Amino acid sequence: MSEQLLSLLKKGAFVSGGFLSSKLGITRAGIWKKIHSLKEKGFKVEASPGKGYRLIDTPEFSVEELKTLIKGEIGRKIIYFDRIDSTNNYAMSYANELLHGEVIIADAQMKGKGRLQRHWVSPPNSNIYMSIILKPDILPREGTLLTLLSSVASVNALRRLTGIDIKIKWPNDLMIGSKKLGGILLETRSEPDRILFAVASIGVNVNMRRIPHELKPIATSTLIETGKRFKRTRKGRQGLLKGWKGLSQTLGKEVAVKTERETIKGIAEDIDDEGRLILKTPDGSIKNISSGDLIHLR
Ligand code: BTN
Repeated sequence: MSEQLLSLLKKGAFVSGGFLSSKLGITRAGIWKKIHSLKEKGFKVEASPGKGYRLIDTPEFSVEELKTLIKGEIGRKIIYFDRIDSTNNYAMSYANELLHGEVIIADAQMKGKGRLQRHWVSPPNSNIYMSIILKPDILPREGTLLTLLSSVASVNALRRLTGIDIKIKWPNDLMIGSKKLGGILLETRSEPDRILFAVASIGVNVNMRRIPHELKPIATSTLIETGKRFKRTRKGRQGLLKGWKGLSQTLGKEVAVKTERETIKGIAEDIDDEGRLILKTPDGSIKNISSGDLIHLR
């Protein structure tokens, strides 16, 4: 239900309580309660009498938002734990009963497992720990290709989301330069002529600031590399925004933007994550403008 409410709420525009209550089939008081519980989970929602509700910001991670972002077969069902021994152990134990594409995610792992029985450092509120159930119709000897597939898919997604030049070190380490950002563990159960299931497990260091002393020379996180905190629940916009910025005639120029209400002059500093123009006005204030007619002044 929280997922349905979240997908109806919009960033930027108000959605009326009446609309939400008719879509979800609950009373306006029920909607208010659900909004309250979203706020407790870190969502910023503005409520305005007569206008309704508007989503202002989302938390760094929430499984509710994650469920609204996933459209395909992988992630059709998400099993989430605040903490678990290892998502990989869970997936291997229950894979027979789980369906292709179901994903197990945890915020923290007590016994995170790396390749070659190594320990995988898995603190809370920081990183991505997930295991995906795969039931492809392939031969056991083709299983190795799933490892390659998982690392290529992970690197492509991470590059698109972060803009960082991530590479693969054989067999499946996700690297930034000479340091490891993440890794993939692939385990399969097979009969002689077919794979019964595979579990593709992925760990990525995202907002981990402190790397254990002994791993410092060989491990990193996106926070350490860029100085920026990335939301683990993140839409694939960074590549798009980076591409737009590279093609823009406007950034850095003095401009005038005519909106419905006023004409604002200033320097076009940047675009934000929503694609709004960030304008620095002559008095030094910053305005985020979502639409209008723009003229390049200089
Ligand atoms: C490696 O050694 O490079 C593979 C690391 C895999 C870590 C992930 S985190 C999610 C899943 N659960 C685990 O216990 N391990 C994998």
